[in-house]
Amino acid sequence: MTHYTKSFVAMHWVHAVLLTFILLGASLVMPDLPEQGGDLAPFKIHIILGILATVLTLVRLLMLRSQPEMEPLKVNSLRQKAIAWNHRLLYLFILIAGISGFATANSANVGEVAVLGKDPTLYTGAGGATELLADIHGASTTILMLLIAMHIAGVLSYRIKTGECILKRMWF
Ligand code: HEM
Ligand code: HEM
Repeated sequence: MTHYTKSFVAMHWVHAVLLTFILLGASLVMPDLPEQGGDLAPFKIHIILGILATVLTLVRLLMLRSQPEMEPLKVNSLRQKAIAWNHRLLYLFILIAGISGFATANSANVGEVAVLGKDPTLYTGAGGATELLADIHGASTTILMLLIAMHIAGVLSYRIKTGECILKRMWF
């Protein structure tokens, strides 16, 4: 096959827009978890969209299993391996970000208060295990951003080296 299927292409772009929105929103606009008490409302959208992005990754991995075999790219075998690993690590780090985010929120009852609207005193604060989990979540999202940057750089460098636009494989 020279093109991914239409449904897989649609999923790639919905997912890319969603993840960009989550990453930019959380890095630039969303505050850190408050030490104690405080307003948890800014975390509501992030938690809902974060869970959605994680579930979409699982759906996407299921869809990937039924994709027809793609024609190999015109690159040497080392570069082919690097591309395959970039793709695997993208999936992996979206899942690690989703799971670590869920664990962070769960350890301090952020979701109960911010999403389910329960009693704000249930929030147990940003210290202890929550701080460690938040650090893991932050580190996994930084790695995810680096992988996305490498992914985009790879698409551009393929164009420069071969003169071909690889984007056609991931378009309708
Ligand atoms: C959050 C942003 C993005 C994520 C998480 C992402 C993720 C992925 C993944 C996991 C694949 C592998 C598909 C497979 O399993 O075979 C892929 C393929 C692809 N992506 Fe992205 N992508 C993102 C943004 C972009 C952008 C901005 C571009 C264009 C500059 C792009 C262009 C492509 C192309 C052309 C392919 C197909 C590569 C091939 O034919 O082997 N992606 N993307
Ligand atoms: C793939 C999905 C996700 C991405 C890309 C993502 C991204 C981010 C980013 C970039 C930050 C800011 C990190 C920092 O400033 O150090 C953040 C913080 C946070 N995220 Fe996520 N997130 C995702 C999923 C989730 C999920 C599913 C939850 C909860 C169910 C969640 C809960 C949180 C919380 C509570 C914080 C604040 C942590 C702190 O104060 O340091 N995230 N997320």
